Amino acid sequence: MSRTVIKLRDVRKYYMVGDFLVKALDGVSVDIEKGEFTAIMGPSGSGKSTMMNLIGCLDTPTSGHIYVDGDNTSGMNEGELAFLRNKKVGFIFQQFNLLGKLSALENVMTPLLYAGVSVVERRERALDTLDRVGLADRVNHRPNELSGGQKQRVAIARALVNNPTILLADEPTGALDTSTGNQIMALFEKLNDEGNTVVFVTHDKGLGMRCRRQIHIRDGKLEDMNVI
Ligand SMILES: Nc1ncnc2c1ncn2[C@@H]1O[C@H](COP(=O)(O)OP(=O)(O)O)[C@@H](O)[C@H]1O
Ligand SMILES: [Mg+2]
Repeated sequence: MSRTVIKLRDVRKYYMVGDFLVKALDGVSVDIEKGEFTAIMGPSGSGKSTMMNLIGCLDTPTSGHIYVDGDNTSGMNEGELAFLRNKKVGFIFQQFNLLGKLSALENVMTPLLYAGVSVVERRERALDTLDRVGLADRVNHRPNELSGGQKQRVAIARALVNNPTILLADEPTGALDTSTGNQIMALFEKLNDEGNTVVFVTHDKGLGMRCRRQIHIRDGKLEDMNVI
């Protein structure tokens, strides 16, 4: 039976910039089911990151409703949103956002610290997750000792280690060359085959078409949705 993990209803995000109202997201409704692999595509400035940040509870909408795993996030306070984020969402960014002074292993252990897991189990689970992304032989390397693709694998392991309900990747291949980007895409495909729900923002038509579903966005509005 399908289960809706993300539900957006008439979601708007407006910004005042001087005298000008920017409608970054302008009335978006969408459902994402468990196990789906969805690409969000659209030109620069169309609202892709705004939508991801709202889905991931990194930001709150101007109006409309966002449900994460059935919970309505409207009216939640910052503490409740942080709890939801930590438990349910794994975020992956274009620029990796790793902590430079920590090893790959320590970076991946970090989310478990906030989840109150013992150090022995943190280490075990982080090692296991680094193995799943193909980095078992790089666990003691720091980010500046890793290639771009390896850094992104560490970031993916960090997003995965808590077993989140949904993985949100905002242009995860944007800082990588084509061949490395393809390898990272293949890793997301593997993670989706293993049952993870993935939302993937990309500029790249070829990568977007490899996702099972595409959502096209322009000027903060959905254009059309395809399910292959
Ligand atoms: N904090 C902000 N303040 C003002 N305008 C913003 C802010 N964040 C995004 N925007 C504007 O909202 C629109 C959508 O931005 P964004 O979601 O980052 O687009 P994308 O990720 O598709 O490139 C853009 O016009 C951008 O300039
Ligand atoms: Mg963006």
